[in-house]
Amino acid sequence: MTKPVILTGLRANNNLTIGNYFGAMLPIIDMAKKRSAEYQVNMFIPDLHSITTPVDYSALNNQILLTAKHFVAAGLPIADENIYLYRQSYIPAHSELTWILDCFTGIGEMNRMTQFKDKSGTIGADRVSVGLFNYPVLMAADMLLYGSEYVPVGDDQTQHLEITRDLGERMNNQFGEIFTIPRAVKEQHAFFGKDQGLRIMDLQDPSKKMSKSDESGKGVIFLSDTPEEAARKVMSAATDDKAYVRYDRENQPGISNLLEILALFQSRDRDEVVAEFEGQTLYGDFKAIVAEEVRRFLLDFQKKLADVDETVVIEKLEQSERDLAVTANATLLRAQQAVGLRPRN
Ligand code: ADP
Ligand code: TRP
Repeated sequence: MTKPVILTGLRANNNLTIGNYFGAMLPIIDMAKKRSAEYQVNMFIPDLHSITTPVDYSALNNQILLTAKHFVAAGLPIADENIYLYRQSYIPAHSELTWILDCFTGIGEMNRMTQFKDKSGTIGADRVSVGLFNYPVLMAADMLLYGSEYVPVGDDQTQHLEITRDLGERMNNQFGEIFTIPRAVKEQHAFFGKDQGLRIMDLQDPSKKMSKSDESGKGVIFLSDTPEEAARKVMSAATDDKAYVRYDRENQPGISNLLEILALFQSRDRDEVVAEFEGQTLYGDFKAIVAEEVRRFLLDFQKKLADVDETVVIEKLEQSERDLAVTANATLLRAQQAVGLRPRN
């Protein structure tokens, strides 16, 4: 009996941040550890998605491998055979199925994708590519190729899950059972727990989330920052003039963000941390504690990263790619046969 598939991807278009670490990597790793006995866990690096917006192309190749190494440094058990770790572009069926799905996707449907609208708004009309427009269809191929049932998606990706279900069902209705359809958003939330709440905010502008794609990076702690650099960023974080430490996202977003960060780094309950520091009047002293915690974390994480054996990671990637290409090609063939590109048996 084959196991049901859980699938998730984390983009490698830039250095990862502590937001990506706590908001995506750790939860994915926890989930993989917890579920891998009963499920097949497909974790991949959507490198084809990385180039849908302009990136530093000379750095991308390194970035892809580095992302894989980050997962290992953060505790992903790659010796587990139920966990696959692979690069999207190394399994060409992703691109090929995307093309077929494209031909069954309405322009109108794609025009409704809000992430495209948001992103194209921020990068400027002259740099918006057809690839970016097509982003959700590539995601659909990512999921359908492996018969993925469970896909943890944040709020910004739920529309893409829905379009995947629509496309898959459309082709199944027309041609017979080609694809396993991922579960509906509601069932995904029931399965994973709807815990999309965590948002580490930018240290300079705590009204926006800390993002690896941020232009200046001044309020962003990258996992690749030197520990001292990161500590300095914490010390110069924007706060307020209330001179009273308190958890109040609305009125004291900077201080609240630092409390949140401290709790994450100390693996403690936020309420407990808040109780400890509430009422402090010297922001400098409080920031110094957070800065020290961040410094220590990066020191430790970067040591773990340096200790990751790159050969083992590359072997894992290649093994996963060989194994999963078999599944992906079988699904692709069914789609090719359905639309008449290959003879039917
Ligand atoms: P970024 O804005 O850093 O490019 P993405 O939008 O590519 O991040 O998201 C990658 C993953 O990291 C998602 O699962 C997202 O929820 C998580 N993530 C990104 N930024 C943060 C943040 N500031 N706080 C918590 N989680 C985050
Ligand atoms: N688009 C996702 C993100 O930005 C990454 C991704 C690509 C993905 N393909 C996927 C996630 C398929 C889940 C399933 O975070």
